[in-house]
Amino acid sequence: MNTEKLTGKVIVITGAASGMGAAMAKDFSAREAKVAILDMNEEKAQEVIKEIEAAGGVATFYKTDITNKTQIETAASDVEEKFGPITSWVNSAGVSKMLPFLDCDEELWDLTMNVNLKGTFLCCQVAIDKMLKNGGGTILNMSSLSGKKASSWQTIYCASKFGVQGLTQSIAKEFADKNIRVNSICPGIVHTEMWDRLKYEYAKKRDLDPEEVLPYFKKNIPMHKLVDLQDVIQAAIFLLTDCSSYLTGQSINLVGGEWMD
Ligand SMILES: NC(=O)c1ccc[n+]([C@@H]2O[C@H](COP(=O)([O-])OP(=O)(O)OC[C@H]3O[C@@H](n4cnc5c(N)ncnc54)[C@H](O)[C@@H]3O)[C@@H](O)[C@H]2O)c1
Repeated sequence: MNTEKLTGKVIVITGAASGMGAAMAKDFSAREAKVAILDMNEEKAQEVIKEIEAAGGVATFYKTDITNKTQIETAASDVEEKFGPITSWVNSAGVSKMLPFLDCDEELWDLTMNVNLKGTFLCCQVAIDKMLKNGGGTILNMSSLSGKKASSWQTIYCASKFGVQGLTQSIAKEFADKNIRVNSICPGIVHTEMWDRLKYEYAKKRDLDPEEVLPYFKKNIPMHKLVDLQDVIQAAIFLLTDCSSYLTGQSINLVGGEWMD
């Protein structure tokens, strides 16, 4: 287990009211980072903040829609006033829906692309603008195995996450000599609130009972287990700190051996 402290780090995490973002926010604050949560879900974000503060950590919340650049900029500037220069930024906010290709409408395309791809683009712009002034920083984009591998009934989601890969690599190249590193994580199945919803949709695709979906995945993953939140946290700490100082534009597959590229 990595016992790395994050003392002195100011870390913005989008989508941290839930799932992987929330797990990272709690863990990073326990390692003495100051954490800012940007999310649209105020109620759940406040629960995360309460838990962090009860454990003695430092965190703040901004109700932010990551498809709105002004809201992101306002939050980021406030974070810097409150906590000092932003050192790291994690883009974990995302949406996912499974549907046969011909049932996907433009509304689903716009929502998925706007949150997963445009939102990540806008957050990277705001983060890099700050980091250039601060002398550097690290960015972590939450991609997916679906950012590398095609999946039926997930066309739009895959397109958005393949896009996140291109975005990550291009930004990494442009700012490599500015002490800004940009990497991504590509997890397989992580049992978060997202999969509590998706299991019903995947069950239809495979004609399974919804409760059979996660065991079905476990059986087919070479390690026979799902991604643990600790796996995500450990990979994130590696990518956000000097442990990975020569690494930029890379992605870490957290897939239990399911995919090697
Ligand atoms: N769960 C998985 O199996 C899995 C696997 C690979 C990649 N991912 C990706 O990892 C990230 C986190 O997934 P999760 O499972 O923790 O999801 P989750 O559904 O538990 O959390 C997503 C969070 O994003 C927030 N959000 C959605 N739209 C937003 C917007 N416009 N502005 C601000 N916040 C918004 C939600 O309120 C929620 O708190 C996502 O990008 C997801 O696509 C998930």
